[in-house]
Amino acid sequence: MRVHVADHPLINHKLTYLRDERTDSPTFRRLAEELVTLLAYEATREVRVEPFEIRTPVAPTTGIKLSKPKPVIIPILRAGLGMLEGMTRLLPSAEVGFLGMVRDEETLEVSAYANRLPDTLTGRQVFVIDPMLATGHTLVMAFEFLRDLGADDITTVCLIAAPEGIETVRAAADQLGIPVTLVVGAIDERLDERGYIVPGLGDAGDRLYGVV
Ligand code: URA
Repeated sequence: MRVHVADHPLINHKLTYLRDERTDSPTFRRLAEELVTLLAYEATREVRVEPFEIRTPVAPTTGIKLSKPKPVIIPILRAGLGMLEGMTRLLPSAEVGFLGMVRDEETLEVSAYANRLPDTLTGRQVFVIDPMLATGHTLVMAFEFLRDLGADDITTVCLIAAPEGIETVRAAADQLGIPVTLVVGAIDERLDERGYIVPGLGDAGDRLYGVV
């Protein structure tokens, strides 16, 4: 698995305000969207393109366009929804699938409660978006789902990751034999005993949408 930490002053600046407990939900949502657009720029570095001919007002030239089949963006519900707008801003022609996963706060076990995905993902570039890579259990389960649909090229975009989660996801990607690229805004220190990233930003879903 390739891990890319998008280290940039604007990313660190936005992350600082996302982390700050005084930041309210509307501001948090706006900042998360802006941050994802910056991360999406890194995550789409290898997006597949093909040449095509155009004419400028002066002369013919060759440009590029996104290749078919269209990339698929898959937010992991609920918190991944807060990253969708930022991704589709850079990849407006992508298709969007949904995967609903929840973790039991006691056992940290993850289960899937909803999915709406294409019948096959073989040959498609898949972008999985989930703000917090904590234990990694959610992403591992997502990868298993996507592998069963034939996924063979996955890029995951997270705002913050814990070292423990990265190692768990790396091992799963190796075992599943799927080439995975991980793009993150920051790698934090560790997980606490409740599975929260330290220092992190708290519960991303709650901070985006409130405690429901
Ligand atoms: N999920 C979150 O939203 N925050 C964490 O710190 C860990 C998991």
